[in-house]
Amino acid sequence: MGENGPECNFDRGCMSCGQCVAICPVGALDNKYTPLAEQRPVTMPLPTPEVAYEFLRMRRSVRNFKPQAPTDEEITRMLDVARYAPTAGNSQGMYYIVIRDKEQIRAIADTVANWMENEVAAGTENKRYFQVVLRAYRERGQDIIARNAPCLVFALARRLNITGVSNAEQSWAYAELFAPTIGLGTTIAGFIQSCGIAGYQPLLDLIAVPPKHKIVGTLMVGYPKYKYQRMPERQHLKVDFR
Ligand SMILES: Cc1cc2nc3c(=O)[nH]c(=O)nc-3n(C[C@H](O)[C@H](O)[C@H](O)COP(=O)(O)O)c2cc1C
Repeated sequence: MGENGPECNFDRGCMSCGQCVAICPVGALDNKYTPLAEQRPVTMPLPTPEVAYEFLRMRRSVRNFKPQAPTDEEITRMLDVARYAPTAGNSQGMYYIVIRDKEQIRAIADTVANWMENEVAAGTENKRYFQVVLRAYRERGQDIIARNAPCLVFALARRLNITGVSNAEQSWAYAELFAPTIGLGTTIAGFIQSCGIAGYQPLLDLIAVPPKHKIVGTLMVGYPKYKYQRMPERQHLKVDFR
């Protein structure tokens, strides 16, 4: 606390999270990095645990899409929610590239298949899994890399991969939970994002990744072809209280 109120002290660990401003019950605290004027009051009650539980359990990875791509507005709405996800040290700064050109998406899937072939030839730990994917993709013509999605969203970050990748995962969690509320379906594109995170140059070139940026995640997005009638079951909860 300085003479004129709170001061941000980055040497002592302030990360401009704005929690001090958000918690003050009388709005007495302000902070130039997270101004009071930009913090909207919390007015909405939390959903009941029952509603929250059902909502979270209903989310599914959508792998069958209608051919039409989502609009700019819909994707922007989804990503606008994703930017409220937690980020390491409040680093934020995720940058998204949206691709809806069919031929470019096909070229991306092909490039990822080439990368997988290199990985198989190098005998990496994913070798056997990638062999199965490649057989389906190359020999049976099944697009299990991009799932014929009409839209791919790439998350890019300037931070070290490890922080950027974790931030992207959090960002996808928000996007994936929000998407169905505006009629969209999503699935994390694990093969594509692994290829991007590995820094495979042909993929970076194809997407024209700006200098100093890294691909830290990829999400498939589209209008779901099917409506889910049932919720998934999972392995039993395993927890040790010590
Ligand atoms: C890191 C990660 C990578 C994933 N990659 C893919 C993928 O490449 N293709 C795919 O169809 N699903 C992918 N998924 C979705 C999972 O297969 C899915 O979450 C899981 O089967 C459970 O199904 P649900 O999400 O519908 O509940 C991925 C999920 C995660 C968390």
